[in-house]
Amino acid sequence: MPPLKGHLYLVGFMGSGKSTVGPILAGQLGREFLDLDDLIEEAEETDIPRIFDLRGEAYFRELETRILASVRDREPAVVALGGGAFSQAPNRDLIFKTGIAVALRIPPGLAWERSTEMDNRPLARDRQQFEILYLKRQPDYDLADLKVGVLGRTPEQICRLIRDRLGTVHRILDSYRD
Ligand code: S3P
Repeated sequence: MPPLKGHLYLVGFMGSGKSTVGPILAGQLGREFLDLDDLIEEAEETDIPRIFDLRGEAYFRELETRILASVRDREPAVVALGGGAFSQAPNRDLIFKTGIAVALRIPPGLAWERSTEMDNRPLARDRQQFEILYLKRQPDYDLADLKVGVLGRTPEQICRLIRDRLGTVHRILDSYRD
């Protein structure tokens, strides 16, 4: 497998397992793992529900774009993004310039179950709104370089599938870049 250039961005809806799969995959690829939501919380010195409650979603989205831009020049890493980051076109442009996007696909019912296990997701408070958002975002995740279904797979199996399929993406990326 040729070395992967740039970041490997993990995208996907809330609950799809980006923060679980990310560190395992990063370890296997010998890379650092970065979680964009953690970086946002560190920068703001508070948690995401408080950012939403006190400053609103628009403020959070600006912050998300700014922190995403700040990781572009770091050593190639595995970067887990919050579920909404890939739905902003300027974020996608940056992602495709600086690496590849791997989408984790999850059915809506399981996404809801997982996302409500802890009360830390401001956009997982109302099931109907959650499902509307889910449907709205699917075409965005379809734009990712690789798509991997998570249903019935362990995090290790998901990592193996991603690694097995990475080669095809490199070739496309390399031919665009060279
Ligand atoms: C969001 C997903 C969350 C977090 C924020 C907004 C979204 O991340 O960024 O609550 O818009 O889908 P996870 O996908 O890691 O839950």
